[in-house]
Amino acid sequence: MFDAAFEELPEKPLAISKAVYRQRQQRLLSQFDVGDLIVISALPEARRSNDVHYPYRSSSDMLYMCGWTDPESTLMFYYEDGQWISHLFVQPKDTLMEIWEGRRPGVEGALKDWAVDRADSSDETLIHLEHLLESSVRVHVRTGINPKIDSLVKSAVEKRDRKRQHFGSGPISVEDPSRRIAEMRLRKSEEEILQMRYAAEVSSKAHELAMAASKDGIHEFQIQSIIEGFFVYGGTSGWAYPSIVGCGENATILHYTVNNSPCDSNEIILIDAGAEYEGYAADITRSWPIGGTFSEAQKEIYEIVLDAQEKAIDACRVGNPYNEPHEVARKALAEGLVRLGVIKQSVEEALDMESGELKKWYMHNTGHWLGLDVHDVGTYKPDGTPRLLEAGMVLTVEPGLYFGAWRPDVDCPQRYANIGIRIEDDVLVTDGDPDVLTGSCPKTIDDIERIVGSL
Ligand code: GLY
Ligand code: MN
Ligand code: MN
Repeated sequence: MFDAAFEELPEKPLAISKAVYRQRQQRLLSQFDVGDLIVISALPEARRSNDVHYPYRSSSDMLYMCGWTDPESTLMFYYEDGQWISHLFVQPKDTLMEIWEGRRPGVEGALKDWAVDRADSSDETLIHLEHLLESSVRVHVRTGINPKIDSLVKSAVEKRDRKRQHFGSGPISVEDPSRRIAEMRLRKSEEEILQMRYAAEVSSKAHELAMAASKDGIHEFQIQSIIEGFFVYGGTSGWAYPSIVGCGENATILHYTVNNSPCDSNEIILIDAGAEYEGYAADITRSWPIGGTFSEAQKEIYEIVLDAQEKAIDACRVGNPYNEPHEVARKALAEGLVRLGVIKQSVEEALDMESGELKKWYMHNTGHWLGLDVHDVGTYKPDGTPRLLEAGMVLTVEPGLYFGAWRPDVDCPQRYANIGIRIEDDVLVTDGDPDVLTGSCPKTIDDIERIVGSL
């Protein structure tokens, strides 16, 4: 059932090259001094049950700085003999382990195919670190990722021995390098955009397939299986975050992931699902009527959300504050609900953060940075004021309205009972018009009504 959709996907992009990783490392290291030791740790493996682990996914900073994906890795940068050295510690080759669990590049593979100067076995990470700590002045490590590294660094900094008193050796401070890396990750390069476009295209097609397969009585998990099945069929590593597939009142629960109810033809289904490709996330939400035709009431709400989303996308322009799309979306949503009589305040009153009624039906932000993490890194207000958008930044635009008739805290209008609608796209800020990476995913009422149930 996936062949036709697969044929329509673009070519897979080339993987990020060693030269690009080298450029990133140079850009990062140009911000440090001789005497700095920078340690990038990967998250440890996590057990799921008895001897089964969760599928491993390395930390995004590790992926960004060198692209190493296997567990137990640590990347260190230090200055030696007039130059910066990148040193990666990896699981060593081990035939028995490889027979059971899969091939490993090992130290030799790391040196040959990855953008690093040195590589050693992960068994030697702590010995090398201890040695490097002795000769460093400042150590830059994000604590809380690898407890063994944390405790070694902590004891090196706390050491007050005679050697330090005489020779001044050993780190005197610990800093977190992740903010500097986040500043780099916030602005996507052309190579990164290609990976993100592919994740976006596969995700868009997956939503379209789910629309086509929708029919009365189908269960949420059956639709989920189509979406996630195509993520894998399309050659991605699967979902970037657990899929939200909620029909009827479940569509009004923002992070609903149970996905086990049957769907009725007169209900709206809300699906928030995106694939991860080469570590990069897509993040799409679409909402449609299971039966293929919007009721008048559903249409009224859908049109307001779509209008708000289109206006917010148009606000994703260089020089606008990052939260401009949010403000634009809030205004359009408030205008729509005042027009429908759902809100009996003025638009200005409805928007008030304390007493305004918009927040009863729209309670989240309109977007977030997107990249290696679905809620990607990058400070929103670096010096207390909203950051201005720059070309290369990617953010989601995802307004919604949620009328949960089950909620005891609000008086839900009967006409809109249990309608939950969110429309989410991934937008690249450019020097020209906003570039919607997920633009091929259908979202107009006409397109949705044509596609839903067409399988
Ligand atoms: N999928 C999570 C979000 O939209 O933020
Ligand atoms: Mn999102
Ligand atoms: Mn989402």
